[in-house]
Amino acid sequence: MGSVSEELTLVPLHRRPELLEACAELLHEEWGRSRASRLHTLQRSSDSFPTCLLLLRSQGSAEGPCQLVGHVRLSRVATRPHSLFVESVVVARALRGQGYGRKLMEATEQWARARGFGCLHLTTHDKQHFYAHLGFVLGEPVQSVAFLSPNIPAELLRLFSTHPGADTSTRPSLPPALPPPVSSPAAPTPPAPPPNVIWARGVLAEGNGSSLLETPHRDAKGLPIFWMKKDI
Ligand SMILES: CC(C)(COP(=O)(O)OP(=O)(O)OC[C@H]1O[C@@H](n2cnc3c(N)ncnc32)[C@H](O)[C@@H]1OP(=O)(O)O)[C@@H](O)C(=O)NCCC(=O)NCCS
Repeated sequence: MGSVSEELTLVPLHRRPELLEACAELLHEEWGRSRASRLHTLQRSSDSFPTCLLLLRSQGSAEGPCQLVGHVRLSRVATRPHSLFVESVVVARALRGQGYGRKLMEATEQWARARGFGCLHLTTHDKQHFYAHLGFVLGEPVQSVAFLSPNIPAELLRLFSTHPGADTSTRPSLPPALPPPVSSPAAPTPPAPPPNVIWARGVLAEGNGSSLLETPHRDAKGLPIFWMKKDI
């Protein structure tokens, strides 16, 4: 992949705000969406999630001029304090097929592991073989957590953040307490999820059959969607 003196780094977008436009362009190239809406989403990147991570490559020193190679966004997962939800995984078109997608995902795993997380979840319409190749397996639907509005009633948040069917009557309020990570005692405890819960991705359709070729799950538009996860 690339030249021998190439350096790859993974950095949060909010540490490199000058790359905001380039990042919006990278995502827009793949998934056309209003520019304003895209910028709005990207500008919410923060250390307390959602976090947009950029894979950058530079020649020689990491301080020098760099090229935006790829992007991934990470959000917390409701009721799973050690999990992160991965989305908007993309590598610049001109650089695909050269190993950068693998590097992006591996660096993301490393980034998450270093912060005490132990599992990544994601959905995909058609890249299930790519993710399986990188060690992901079919998984169950989870609810990701993202910023919405500071004015959501606490009761509503509590309902969104509870396992379906669980008894919520004794639970006082959000956010839930986060126990220290079991896999990495020395790593910092992940920060509490932001106090705003947004959507549940995908719904379980009729039937239980699930493979890399067929899925029982559908997204909000009714399109087949594969839920995948990886212990990291
Ligand atoms: C999916 C994507 C990120 C992959 O990036 P990439 O740089 O082309 O992938 P890589 O070259 O790093 O491939 C890594 C490995 O996965 C394999 N691979 C790549 N795409 C694959 C696919 N569709 N099915 C199976 N294997 C695949 C490669 O052969 C390679 O194997 P190797 O490391 O053993 O040699 C890129 O194609 C992309 O940005 N696509 C558009 C956006 C998108 O669909 N994102 C996913 C949303 S869920």
